[in-house]
Amino acid sequence: MNKPVLSEARKRNRVTEFIEVDPILSNQYDGKKYYIRTYGCQMNVHDSEEMAGILENLGFLPTDSEETADIVILNTCAVRENAHDKVFGFLGRCKHIKEKKNKDLIICLCGCMAQETSVVEEIEKHHKYINLVFGTHNIHELPNYLLNLHEGLNVEVKSSEDNVYEVGENYKRDSKISAWVNIMYGCDKFCTYCIVPYTRGKERSRKSEDIIKEVKKLKELGYKEVTLLGQNVNAYGRDREEEISFAELLTKVAEIGIDRVRFVTSHPWNFTDEMIDVIAKYDNIMPYIHLPLQSGSDRILKLMGRRYTQEEYLNLFDKMKERIPGVAITTDIIVGFPNETDEDFEETLKVVEHCKYDGAFTFIYSPREGTPAAKMEDNIDLKTKEDRLHKLNEIVNKYSNMNNQKYLDKTVPVLITGVSEKDNDKLCGYTDTFKLVNVEGGKRLIGEIVDVKITDAKSFSLDGKVE
Ligand code: SAH
Ligand code: SF4
Ligand code: F3S
Repeated sequence: MNKPVLSEARKRNRVTEFIEVDPILSNQYDGKKYYIRTYGCQMNVHDSEEMAGILENLGFLPTDSEETADIVILNTCAVRENAHDKVFGFLGRCKHIKEKKNKDLIICLCGCMAQETSVVEEIEKHHKYINLVFGTHNIHELPNYLLNLHEGLNVEVKSSEDNVYEVGENYKRDSKISAWVNIMYGCDKFCTYCIVPYTRGKERSRKSEDIIKEVKKLKELGYKEVTLLGQNVNAYGRDREEEISFAELLTKVAEIGIDRVRFVTSHPWNFTDEMIDVIAKYDNIMPYIHLPLQSGSDRILKLMGRRYTQEEYLNLFDKMKERIPGVAITTDIIVGFPNETDEDFEETLKVVEHCKYDGAFTFIYSPREGTPAAKMEDNIDLKTKEDRLHKLNEIVNKYSNMNNQKYLDKTVPVLITGVSEKDNDKLCGYTDTFKLVNVEGGKRLIGEIVDVKITDAKSFSLDGKVE
């Protein structure tokens, strides 16, 4: 048993080792079926691709439901409280299947919730039907855990991690068109509301040569797009003296010549002019930036530990808009942080009115155990939080609609990524500015970048026809 301890997870030990992980092959689970359900951010989505690769190496085949699976893996997110109920609701269904239909069903929980001490304690008390809990730091150990699974509950969570594990091309990627590429793990920003630095450990950059090798390989395999992943990509390379900066990494990745390069997420702090210039210079670096604001009030930004003021944020925003032609910018905003007054909230709205974002993810503040903000009194009542969220969303939606309207009757390049979820007779894809487009056209266009004439614009998507 290895249980997570949040206070240990706070510690930062600076030496990073790079460890190559060889795939473990076995026929122990030949023909058995796996189902992975993923919550949370792109990092979790990509971790699930790694787990799928591991499971297939052990003989498992994919299936699309917990009903038909021999193993279910639940990859969880801990960023807000509401995920908790969803996860335990789904676990309840798995428990039922195990009791009524398939007593050998292996139930696993991993991801950021597995890093929370309170969650693991809850599982030990009330959810003994779970077979395996493992954390974000030891995914590469999954084959060993499964090949040596003990009766009852196995808990294998490390509180922190200093190393970078290189798994090469051992991912079972969901797409053959667009690929996720980790450039760094962890986060050292410790925004006071956020649990990620505890669940993902210290900032560790992968070696630029390994990243470049991976992108070159993806290009050879025919991928059209890569998205570089990090909780805060501007910090890339800062944890190791000899490493290049994010601007230099972006340059090298762009020069590989893959059609589309994206990255998420950028913290407004430390977003250098050099980075802006590189994005502007290369046609294959997409003009799209996710730039979380969180709050427009200097007082709240300070309480959040965000390291910038409203003025600094707006200066950066304006500079991006000025120097990167046609750039689309989206954001994240939290309402109802402890002590947020009406005046503070008005400051947030002021920034939204100025920035007229292409889109925004908006959240009600959720206290996370172990974070500094959780020690502050959560003193804004739910009604006020909901009213603020509602008011904010109205303005956010107005501007995303307004931005989308600008596309009407224009012809823009769209990377067709698959069949539209809304209408199976249509295709879907993304503009360079990361706007979702539902497109009329034949399936052979999947994986191609095609010129699409936009025929309708809504708040959250566009419709179009292939030219
Ligand atoms: N590394 C990314 C964010 C990861 S979490 C970044 O800094 O941009 C994604 C978003 O969840 C955050 O931007 C924030 O808006 C929201 N979030 C994080 N912790 C939260 C909390 N305790 N309550 C509500 N929203 C939260
Ligand atoms: Fe969380 Fe802040 Fe790190 Fe983003 S930068 S993951 S919000 S601590
Ligand atoms: Fe959630 Fe963990 Fe990502 S908390 S947002 S899955 S890093």
